[in-house]
Amino acid sequence: MIYVNLNYLKNHKSNVDVEKINLFLIQRNRKLFDEPNLAMVKAIMDQPDIKADVKDYNKDAIVITCKSKINTDVQEKIKTQLKTFSPWRKGPFHIFGIDIDAEWKSQLKWNRIAPFLDTLENKTVCDLGCNNGYFMFKAAAHKPALVMGFDPTRKFKLAFHYINRFAGEPNLHMELLGFDDLQYFKDIFDTLFCMGIIYHHENPMTILRYCNQSMKKGGQIVLETMGISSGDPLCLFPEKRYANMPNVWFVPSQAAVKHMLVRAGFRDIQCVYNEFLDTDEQRKTSWADVESLKDFLDPENPRLTIEGYEAPSRIYFVARK
Ligand SMILES: C[S@@+](CC[C@H](N)C(=O)[O-])C[C@H]1O[C@@H](n2cnc3c(N)ncnc32)[C@H](O)[C@@H]1O
Repeated sequence: MIYVNLNYLKNHKSNVDVEKINLFLIQRNRKLFDEPNLAMVKAIMDQPDIKADVKDYNKDAIVITCKSKINTDVQEKIKTQLKTFSPWRKGPFHIFGIDIDAEWKSQLKWNRIAPFLDTLENKTVCDLGCNNGYFMFKAAAHKPALVMGFDPTRKFKLAFHYINRFAGEPNLHMELLGFDDLQYFKDIFDTLFCMGIIYHHENPMTILRYCNQSMKKGGQIVLETMGISSGDPLCLFPEKRYANMPNVWFVPSQAAVKHMLVRAGFRDIQCVYNEFLDTDEQRKTSWADVESLKDFLDPENPRLTIEGYEAPSRIYFVARK
């Protein structure tokens, strides 16, 4: 986990600055062992050495389990270890009989994009902001050549590592990389997922331009964002917080997202979904004991956030480089 091994990029050496990324990752991976992560690191070091022989990524939950019933003590140990990665933001997962009901029902997001996806078979896929890798496993069901998850948040890398040690998927690789590291990747990805990312950063256009240059010509971007309902090409720019989140900058309308994609160099731009976010899709659970969407909407009028802004929609686009 701490060792950097970018051999899986060996076929892409002319398109990826592997040496530079290797250097960053050596530095970044060292920090995986920092104090706040120790319980998770301990869980990984003491992880039962079992491999799943039943893997099903086509169901709502990512299923990683085995045909024979595992010893209840081992199962209890795995459950305790899985809890160290709480709160589980993305899921669900079903791991050796343990159901992880995450804050987000991420299967709803996948089901909305699935009908519009290019084939992933033998393709090179990027999941930008991959969190614990839920969508990487979803993509794995389609037999891609490589799925590379980018996420700079260390606890999510640890969670992915723990899950994939059971699953043993050789084509899934997650690294502590951010969107700005996409500049070291040129014309390599056939499909790039950029979901739940652009509104969290001050410069959404930089993200989209980096996405574009990292993709092959003709490749597909799947862009999902929080949005507003205006019919005009506008963005809401909160003064301080939006639905209690301090890290929300531009919240675009559907037309604004389209214009962003055009100006980042995309074509064949298609909006495939635009609806208010439901409190059934993002909610507190026993695996994510956190305040959630319901707590951040006006109790008198759930079409408003607690700050008095329009409540979030989720807007999905597919487009081509
Ligand atoms: C709202 S979550 C979205 C997760 C997932 N893509 C989804 O759609 O459910 C945002 C993710 O972006 C990650 N992130 C934070 N800074 C980032 C950066 N600079 N580049 C890429 N991802 C980043 C976070 O760690 C988090 O996992």
